[in-house]
Amino acid sequence: MDKLILRNGDAMPALGLGTWKSDPGEVYNVVREAIKIGYRHIDCAAFYGNETEIGQAFIDAFSSGDVKREDLWVTSKLWNNAHLKKDVRPALEKTLRDLRLDYLDLYLIHWPVALKPEVQFPSSTNDFLSLNDAPIAATWAGMEGCVKDGLSKHIGVSNFSIKKIKQLLDGCEIRPAVNQIELHPFHQQPTMLEFCNKEYIVVTAYSPLGSTDRPPQFKNPNEPSLFENTTIVKIASANGLSSAQVLIRWAIQRGTSVIPKSVNPARLKQNFDAAGISLSNEDMKKIAALEAKGRLITGKFWDAPELGYSLATLWDE
Ligand code: A2P
Repeated sequence: MDKLILRNGDAMPALGLGTWKSDPGEVYNVVREAIKIGYRHIDCAAFYGNETEIGQAFIDAFSSGDVKREDLWVTSKLWNNAHLKKDVRPALEKTLRDLRLDYLDLYLIHWPVALKPEVQFPSSTNDFLSLNDAPIAATWAGMEGCVKDGLSKHIGVSNFSIKKIKQLLDGCEIRPAVNQIELHPFHQQPTMLEFCNKEYIVVTAYSPLGSTDRPPQFKNPNEPSLFENTTIVKIASANGLSSAQVLIRWAIQRGTSVIPKSVNPARLKQNFDAAGISLSNEDMKKIAALEAKGRLITGKFWDAPELGYSLATLWDE
């Protein structure tokens, strides 16, 4: 299994299981099955609304001897409504209670966007907190406190631009270990990858298969299909692989971590097996040359210009 080495020498399994969009009713079996197949990295988040069921799967996997806690890498994420410094630790404690763990391997700030504590998802500008009221540096100080208190081994960010990471690096005591971002052949972000490599920040690729099962509010009309892209299909058939396997292996071979989601046992196994294959340099180059089509997860739902949130300020592009 490929591993990515963090700045302090700890190793993170490159392939993880994504759990966004895995319903509470199905995610227990998915996590048990994934661990039996050999997955050793599970990517969670409070916002996904399924950490209680995942926690039950962890407890049962540990007690039945499928895996030891120390051999499993567990990531979770701070939701946007807990960005005030005083709210960070309680949010992580709740995640740990739900996941039935004593510590996380990695805790990420899910988005550089703050919501009022009582708001789960915004329906108007009134639901946001401005970055003056909830500065990222203060949220980060709360995250650092969680490492110092042993609640998470590592901390990092998600959906952060290079500019925002630089601002964080300037004032932090503990550096972000990871930036988790949307990455796939239609949105390759080479400049971000180069920057993170230089700073020893591991990059995790989310939505590596295009997240076609997203709820409607996260979807755009006429989205391009990664699975049906001619280059991907040709490489897959020439190598006896599925399109999903090509996408997963491409991500790992680029030096990123990758967290494909599946709730189907056969596809879980197929995706896991992709970690063990190899693509030729020529195939990697063909994928690198694919036309950029932009983000699938645009962040358009974080729109509150009066409080300083727009797509321009979100991605700093
Ligand atoms: P399912 O959960 O039914 O397997 P992403 O990881 O980019 O969020 O994409 C997840 C989507 O891709 C889900 O709809 C998932 O469906 C589907 N998927 C996952 N693995 C495969 C695979 N090997 N082949 C086809 N579709 C897959």
